Amino acid sequence: MTTILAIESSCDDTSAAVLRDDMLLSNVIASQKVHEQYGGVVPELASRAHQQNIIPVVDAAIRQAGIAKEEIDAIGFTRGPGLLGSLLVGVSFAKSFATALDKPLIEVNHLQAHVLSHFIRRSEAGDRNSESVATATTSDLPQFPFICLLVSGGHTQILLLRSHFDIECLGTTIDDAAGEAIDKAAKIMDLGYPGGPVIDRLAKEGNADAYKFATPHIEGYNYSFSGIKTSFLYFLRDRLKEDPDFIEKHKADLCASIQKTIVGFLLKKVERAALDHHVRQVAIAGGVSANSLLRSELQRICAKHHWQAFVPPFQFCTDNAAMVGIAAYFKYLKGEFADISLPPYTRS
Ligand code: KG4
Ligand code: ZN
Repeated sequence: MTTILAIESSCDDTSAAVLRDDMLLSNVIASQKVHEQYGGVVPELASRAHQQNIIPVVDAAIRQAGIAKEEIDAIGFTRGPGLLGSLLVGVSFAKSFATALDKPLIEVNHLQAHVLSHFIRRSEAGDRNSESVATATTSDLPQFPFICLLVSGGHTQILLLRSHFDIECLGTTIDDAAGEAIDKAAKIMDLGYPGGPVIDRLAKEGNADAYKFATPHIEGYNYSFSGIKTSFLYFLRDRLKEDPDFIEKHKADLCASIQKTIVGFLLKKVERAALDHHVRQVAIAGGVSANSLLRSELQRICAKHHWQAFVPPFQFCTDNAAMVGIAAYFKYLKGEFADISLPPYTRS
C-alpha cells in the first residue's frame, strides 16, 4: 500500500489530499475569497493567501485522513501550468516537507491531474471531510481509449487517452478558454467572479432559446471563444441603448442562452471526435465540468449513441489536490520521481 500526500496551489485554491493507493482519504480545499472584489484572480494576492493557507490545509488533510506523517510514502505536487507565485508556494512547501520526512517527490501536470480525477476511488462513506459520495467500482472507471473534454478557466482541450499518460490533444482553443468566456459574459452582466456558477444558477430560470449567439467555424476539433464573447458584448450594447435595464430584466434568459451556446459548441466537437475515433466512452473534467447543462447534455448525447458518460463529482471539478494525488500515485507505480531542484512552469 502506498500513501501519498498531494499539494495543489496552481491558481487560487490551496488544497492538500491524502490517498492510499487510488483511494481518497481526505481532500481539503481552501478557496480564496479575496479575488471576488477584483473580478478576477490577482496573482500577488493569490500567492500571499497560499502562503497563509498551506500549513493549516496540509495539517487538516493529514488529520482528516487519520494517518501519521511518517506513513506518507511520497509527496505529489502540481508543478505547472499555473501562476508562478502560486505554484512556488506549493512547490517549495512540497520540497521542504519531502526533505524533512526524507520521502520522494512526484511532479504532476495540472491538466493531466484534472483528467485523471476520473480514476479516484472513494470509500463507501465518502471521504471524511466532504459530501457523502457513492463507492466507485471498477465499472465506474473509464476504460482506455476514451475521450475527455478538459474545460477550465484556463484551458479547453479535447483529449484522447490511450493510457494514464498517453494523452493526445486532438483539439484546443485558439484564443480564450470556455471558462474564461463564461466568466467574461458574467462580468459584462455584472454578476461577480467567478461567473460560471452564477450563470449556471440563473440559467435554470431562463429560456435558453431567447437569444441566439453565433459560434465560429473553426477547423477540426479546435475551438475559439473570443468571437462569442464579442457578439454577446455587442448584442448587449445595442439593447442597452434602447433600454438601460435590459440586462436586469432579461438576466435569466441571457444566462440560459449564452450557456446553451457555449455548451452546444463544446459538445458538438466532442461528439464528432468520439465518432471519428470510434470511442465509446466520453468524460469531462475541469472547473466548467461542474456546469449542470454540460453534465446533462453530455449524458444525453452519450445515451443517444449508447456510449458511457463520465461526469466527475463536484469536488473534483474545480481545482483540488485529490486529482494531483491520483496522478502522483500512477507515477509512483512507474517509479517516476522528481528532482528536488525542479522549478515550476507556468505554461503547458
Ligand atoms: O479548473 P478550475 O477550478 O480552474 C482552472 O484551472 O482554471 O476552473 C475554473 C473555471 C472558472 O472559469 C469558473 O467560472 C468555471 O470553472 N466554473 C463553472 C462552473 N463552476 C465553475 N462554469 C460553468 N458552470 C459552473 N457551474
Ligand atoms: Zn484547474
